[in-house]
Amino acid sequence: MKMAGHSILYEGNTSKTRSLLTLLIGLLIGFCIAELISYMTISEDINPKNIVASTASPKQQLTNDVGIPNLGVIEHEHPFDNTSLSDQLKREVRVLCWVMTNPSNHKKKARHVKRTWGKRCNILLFMSSAADEELPTVKLDVEEGRPNLWRKVKEAFKYVYKHHYNDADWFYKADDDTYAVIENLRYMLYPYSPETPVHFGFKFKTFVKQGYMSGGAGYVLSKEALRRFVVDGIPDPKMCLPGTVINEDIEIGKCMENLNVTAGDSRDVNGRGRMFPFVPEQMLIPNKDPNFWYWNYQYYKTDDGLDCCSDNAISFHYVAPNFMYVLDYLIYHLKPFGVERSQQLPAKLKVGELMSPPKEEPANSNEDSVDDYDRLYTPAVTMNSNEPDSREVSSNESGRKFANGEKN
Ligand SMILES: *[C@@H]1O[C@H](CO)[C@@H](O)[C@H](O)[C@H]1NC(C)=O
Ligand SMILES: *[C@@H]1O[C@H](CO)[C@@H](O)[C@H](O)[C@H]1NC(C)=O
Ligand SMILES: *[C@@H]1O[C@H](CO)[C@@H](O)[C@H](O)[C@H]1NC(C)=O
Repeated sequence: MKMAGHSILYEGNTSKTRSLLTLLIGLLIGFCIAELISYMTISEDINPKNIVASTASPKQQLTNDVGIPNLGVIEHEHPFDNTSLSDQLKREVRVLCWVMTNPSNHKKKARHVKRTWGKRCNILLFMSSAADEELPTVKLDVEEGRPNLWRKVKEAFKYVYKHHYNDADWFYKADDDTYAVIENLRYMLYPYSPETPVHFGFKFKTFVKQGYMSGGAGYVLSKEALRRFVVDGIPDPKMCLPGTVINEDIEIGKCMENLNVTAGDSRDVNGRGRMFPFVPEQMLIPNKDPNFWYWNYQYYKTDDGLDCCSDNAISFHYVAPNFMYVLDYLIYHLKPFGVERSQQLPAKLKVGELMSPPKEEPANSNEDSVDDYDRLYTPAVTMNSNEPDSREVSSNESGRKFANGEKN
């Protein structure tokens, strides 16, 4: 594309530029052949050209799986880490994760979920309409395509209830472009009883009175919420919408409300969010346009800069496969030498009990520095560049004024 742009600069001049043009065309053809060859080679191979390609813009990365190293290279252990607390939580707060994917994303996205954050779930399932031995997938009897998302969510949770109800305490639904820190999910859930009818995610305040959870940040149902959904909800058209629509997250939100499943508060004690509908950069440095849909949809007011996000954040959305490896490295490997943070588990709550809401003003917040930042910084990348999934915006075909991102 860049080449085509350059060739315009030289167009229709001297013969010197004509030979330049010929050279550029030659380069373009060479480039295309190289692309074709790299497409035909097995994408798992490490190829220096592809590593260069991985520095391309996030938009390019989303559609590009080449250049991601194979599993042997991206994994190494830290045998001397003291993981006794996270091991304890893995036993006591069992999380089943299921990832919504589709046949065209098995290799492009889902496999990278499995190699990064997905492997930390107690149970990891990929829900698709086609079988895949590598992942593997649960082959649901649902047609693909965005209009079938709600049906797919219902079928997926039915499968999970039927086959794994007793294998986990919490049931987390994510997309294949979600990145989640499962240790922090367990830490947030630790005080709660799985018998409490509650679910957590990034809460939007529109369409559902108690709020509904962003599909992209993922939402986690307690064991009791799962039971109500599958046993009392799905079969009863007064509780949950029969058939299918695009906006699975709004529909499950309505359904949870009808079933008296509380829309939980996933913020930490300082009022900082833990589950997010965007990538970290866009939470830290948000789009300040007051007309940006997000400001009217978020349930809790969020802050900029480091006050945006909990030190125990759980999930982000629109994460390109390459960036999953970057996050894995930054979160699980890179550590500043000599710094350790003391950590303590909170007390347990009774069945039906919820954490009290955080203080409105985040502790340690430095509003002055945030204001300085506001004056100095003009965002180069705005959140508008990621239009919301329609399912995060409206269940209403006629009212989908923001819903132009028909990507999946
Ligand atoms: C590991 O951490 C736990 C608390 O998190 C502590 O009780 C234990 O002594 C530590 N083990 C070692 C070998 O440092
Ligand atoms: C939900 O709670 C309301 C008020 O307590 C009650 O009337 C209703 O029957 C409950 N619905 C379900 C499905 O539990
Ligand atoms: C759906 O759209 C109609 C017409 O634009 C509007 O009156 C209604 O409130 C919308 N419903 C929802 C759930 O957005």
